[in-house]
Amino acid sequence: MGVLEDKGRARLFYKYLSTVYDRINPLVWNEEMRDEALDRTGIEAGDRVLDVGCGTGFGTEGILQHTDDVHGLDQSIHQLEKAWAKFGKTDQVNFYRGDAERLPFDDNRFDHYWSSGSIEYWPNPVDAIEEARRVTRPGGTVLMVGPDAPTTSLFGKIADAIMLFYDSDEADRMFREAGFTDLTHVIMQANPGSPRAIVTVATVPKE
Ligand SMILES: C[S@@+](CC[C@H](N)C(=O)[O-])C[C@H]1O[C@@H](n2cnc3c(N)ncnc32)[C@H](O)[C@@H]1O
Repeated sequence: MGVLEDKGRARLFYKYLSTVYDRINPLVWNEEMRDEALDRTGIEAGDRVLDVGCGTGFGTEGILQHTDDVHGLDQSIHQLEKAWAKFGKTDQVNFYRGDAERLPFDDNRFDHYWSSGSIEYWPNPVDAIEEARRVTRPGGTVLMVGPDAPTTSLFGKIADAIMLFYDSDEADRMFREAGFTDLTHVIMQANPGSPRAIVTVATVPKE
């Protein structure tokens, strides 16, 4: 398990990273990638959407272009403070401080679930994916973006020592273990040579 797959360490990491996050993030996850991912969710006007690991609100901002019922959750107060400065605490978006692995919401509360760039910090990603399924209504979509596994074994070992990197086989395993059967993965990249993102879109089964 990577050094940042620990909730306390991830919180400390984001205490410092939050000050420069919005300047660094576009190097690996930009508006074009986010908007392409959003187009795969089927979010419609009026849908209630949860953004988990919302951070400073980059994904949140994209979701707001599709619907105005948006809820953002993050475990880092420092990241949330940046998001509040953009959207207000409860004006455009309802924000919550909480944990992806123990969501403070009733079953089937949301039409869609979105999480970009957060799964790599979760110690128990399958638990969090189960939570995503629980809070999203049957037929809704769960979209998760994470770092695609490096192709060379040296970079792979370094990456694994830091946080979770995974390929589509591993994404398949995690989502199936969490109860999903209908899922697709797509790889996105900001520029040739920059780190790749793996985007998984899964439909919540109708039981
Ligand atoms: C790379 S940022 C992504 C922010 C935003 N979603 C985006 O697309 O730019 C990762 C975020 O996940 C949050 N995070 C990490 N572990 C978490 C957990 N267990 N529960 C909730 N949020 C978590 C961090 O605090 C951080 O704000």
